[in-house]
Amino acid sequence: MLNTSITVISESIVLAFVLFHLLQWLTQKSDEPLAVENAIPFIGPVVQMLRCKSQFHLRMRNKYGLPVHTLRLPWIRIYVLNELSLITAAQKQHHILSFGPIMGQAIGKIAGTSDATNKAIIKDALTDDGFLLGFNKAIHHTMAPGPSLDMLTRRAASTFLDLIDELKNSTTRTYKVSLSAWMRSTILRGTTDAVYGPRNPFRDPAIETAWYAFEPGVTRLAMRFIPSFATKKTRQARQVLVRSFTSYFSLGCPEEASDFMKARYNHIIRHQITNVQDIAKLEVAGAFSIITNSAPTAFWLLYHIFSDKSLLADCRLELDSLVHERDGMCYLNIGAIKTSCPTLHSTLHEVMRYYGVAQSLRAVLKDHKLENTHLLRKDSLVMMPATVQHFDPSIWGFEASQFNHKRFTKSSSDGAGYEFDSKTCNRGGFRGFGGGLHLCPGRHFAVDEILTFAALIVLRFDIEPTGNEGWPVIHTDTLSSKGSAIIIPDNDLEVILCPREDKKWAISSITPS
Ligand code: HEM
Repeated sequence: MLNTSITVISESIVLAFVLFHLLQWLTQKSDEPLAVENAIPFIGPVVQMLRCKSQFHLRMRNKYGLPVHTLRLPWIRIYVLNELSLITAAQKQHHILSFGPIMGQAIGKIAGTSDATNKAIIKDALTDDGFLLGFNKAIHHTMAPGPSLDMLTRRAASTFLDLIDELKNSTTRTYKVSLSAWMRSTILRGTTDAVYGPRNPFRDPAIETAWYAFEPGVTRLAMRFIPSFATKKTRQARQVLVRSFTSYFSLGCPEEASDFMKARYNHIIRHQITNVQDIAKLEVAGAFSIITNSAPTAFWLLYHIFSDKSLLADCRLELDSLVHERDGMCYLNIGAIKTSCPTLHSTLHEVMRYYGVAQSLRAVLKDHKLENTHLLRKDSLVMMPATVQHFDPSIWGFEASQFNHKRFTKSSSDGAGYEFDSKTCNRGGFRGFGGGLHLCPGRHFAVDEILTFAALIVLRFDIEPTGNEGWPVIHTDTLSSKGSAIIIPDNDLEVILCPREDKKWAISSITPS
């Protein structure tokens, strides 16, 4: 009896294996990019993805060395673009290789909005005037260098100063904190105070806690085949957040909110979404891109600076020249950090290169031959993983896999601060903020607020891990795939913050020196 069962099971497996191979062979056209990891069709790529996590795409590029390859998954095919020239070509075809349908499907599910609002979201989803693709145009002026951006940075800086002072008001001389958790909370408050103004819902600790319950489940909410019991906690947390944002928007967008928030709100209203609950839901979903990436980026930045004494000394030397002392108060010129602190600025970019895992997914709307060579078929996905570009020796040199905080210290030819040496680095190879039409509109603010936060900590504190082991290696294997563009550290790090001097601090200027 047992033998018969084993035989039946074995035969079924062999039959399924043969059928899968046949199916894959029949449905893969010869001018499509080669399907990889297909020894066990459809299952093989999934197993490798689960095994390799954030390293998956890099390993596939290293193993197969193809400019583009296909991943045949049970429900879809994904074309992974490995060669930079193909990414540039794909970004030019944004009406055929579009983010619109992906956002259109995901936002309604993440936000839990009504059918009427979902219809308004996907109306004209593929045109630049629709809700989805028109968004960047509507908010662009509020995030580009100028007074609105300066105000955002100034507000974030002011909250950082308050929260650091709160820490200093405790009774002890040194402060023991879990670095990642403390930074996550401080940067979340700084970012959201800047965006939402004095009525920022995240000032309520219960809302901050609800966010931490909501954020890790966001990608699962967006997926099609996840049963609702698996997202129960995320949806419960979402309810708490939505209640709070409903009250925030009860009389329209608050006057004291940032220009960015006002532009975002007006864009929603212009697209006939007027139900206040749905506006709140859209904001909860939209807050993901505002909040998620700055804290892990800042964590890795401080980790590298404080674990390398000579880098710390260089950063302090650069920053000292931006501090002016008057009547016992230290004023930091935050507007000059980007242009006057090449080492700090370069370290931030290197952090984003080294830990950047953005995937930049696009939907193929009709059959298209990329560069007249690679057939991309309708209803498939295109992916442009940052990891592949960020570790490509042909872009970054033979030591591409090493963390080198000086990598970005050469002056750029356009004089806009310390960026890439155009002779040795290719700007397009840096995908920390994505690229093309969907290049992160919050990038200037993100850089400004992270540099400001890091400057305040570097100038005011020494940091040492507790215990006598020095700075440990932080692993990044388990939590890295939660939809963030920067790898999240697996474990936190308990540290002692020790003030260097007992002085008062303020922000002096937003203009470059
Ligand atoms: C270090 C911090 C940040 C990183 C690493 C980051 C990264 C990214 C990346 C990689 C994308 C493009 C995704 C794609 O190509 O599909 C993106 C999009 C976006 N980011 Fe950021 N971001 C950061 C901070 C911010 C901040 C602070 C804001 C707003 C205040 C923001 C707002 C957005 C928005 C609205 C989009 C969507 C743009 C679109 O769909 O066209 N980001 N971000």
